[in-house]
Amino acid sequence: MLNFNFQNPTKINFGPEEIKTISKEIPLDARVLIVYGGGSIKGNGVYQQVIDALKEHTYFEFSGIEPNPTYDTLMKAQTIIKAEKIDYLLAVGGGSVVDGAKFIAAAALFEGDDPWDILAKQQTFTKALPIGAVLTLPATGSESNGNSVVTRNGNKLPFSSPLVRPLFAVLDPGVTLSLSDRQIGNGVVDAFVHTIEQYLTYNVNGKVQDRFSEGLLQTLIEEGPKALAPETKDDLDVRANIMWSATMALNGLIGAGVPQDWSTHMIGHELTGAFGIDHARTLSIVLPAVMKVRREQKREKLLQYASRVWQINEGDDNTRIDQAIRLTEQFFEKMQVPTRLSDVNLGSSDLDLLVERLAQHGMTALGEKGDITLDISREILTQAL
Ligand code: NZQ
Ligand code: ZN
Repeated sequence: MLNFNFQNPTKINFGPEEIKTISKEIPLDARVLIVYGGGSIKGNGVYQQVIDALKEHTYFEFSGIEPNPTYDTLMKAQTIIKAEKIDYLLAVGGGSVVDGAKFIAAAALFEGDDPWDILAKQQTFTKALPIGAVLTLPATGSESNGNSVVTRNGNKLPFSSPLVRPLFAVLDPGVTLSLSDRQIGNGVVDAFVHTIEQYLTYNVNGKVQDRFSEGLLQTLIEEGPKALAPETKDDLDVRANIMWSATMALNGLIGAGVPQDWSTHMIGHELTGAFGIDHARTLSIVLPAVMKVRREQKREKLLQYASRVWQINEGDDNTRIDQAIRLTEQFFEKMQVPTRLSDVNLGSSDLDLLVERLAQHGMTALGEKGDITLDISREILTQAL
């Protein structure tokens, strides 16, 4: 196992009626900015629950954070933050809203020239506004990690800091009942790929991490399709298991002390930046290709994955790996997400732009050993055609 430091201070308030707890989590004298997206929270009653809980608080609102939040939208929040002396952010929404709140929080107290440098130059910062979150879409893990992804002019860039990790997160599985099938599928697949990217590398004998990861993968494989099936769609236990899996997949626990390979995400970000494809749908396209192109480097873990996650124990090594990759693709198909670039109308003529963008963004040494060069990324994209 590798050395690690692990601390996750985000308090999780999980279950029905837990939105009420925000009244106690946020100090009464705070000047709160509620940040949210395009209005789904008004249709499903979440907004009303938040407003009811904050009736003793002083609060303001900033809405319109779009999926794959943009720098231009997020910077607009700075006007109200200054005018109203906001000192606390409450993000109510999915990963885009929580990620957006993180950038807003850092930009509000940024001492450098341009907050975009936090992303473009990975400039560090020493202060950020405190954040709480009411999560409405289980997928990203953003509610209890320090990561955020922001887009500007097609450049989709991540940053990370413990200063923007939410202090608390409310996870009420009932609020996910209003999600469309598309967002349910996206969320399950995103959480699945987060787990895989901290698991499918090389063996360091991290038994706890491996078995936690395998448990999360199996839970998502079992419960994900139930959230799409008419007879089990409204089952709150199904939703609860998906929600908790998604949080656990990217709260730092399973990745502590093991190698990680975020190449699927980094290549996927270019697909979203250049062509606007939903985040999770980029991952379901890229991951099977990564498994195929990196099968020698990942051989031992692919065999472990085949055996422990899919119970494939018969046949020679190559056959078992092929079956595991095929079952992964079939699981994605069940979750109604694409597995090929051609499924989203992209072809070989689009690869130059994607590889160029990877180069521009410094994504030239990806993977658990930093040996996925631009040529190998091109091979992965070619495999995904
Ligand atoms: O904007 P509203 O009206 O709220 O609608 C949203 C949005 O249109 C809707 N939605 C959310 N909750 C709903 C709902 N609709 C009905 N009922 C509900 N309960 O769903 C749509 C998509 O929301 P979004 O927040 O964009 O989805 P997601 O949670 O998948 O977040 C994706 C973003 O997170 C980033 C992605 O790159 C992408 O920008 N990621 C963040 C990570 C992190 N912070 O650790 C890691 C991830 O790998 C990912 O990169
Ligand atoms: Zn993701």
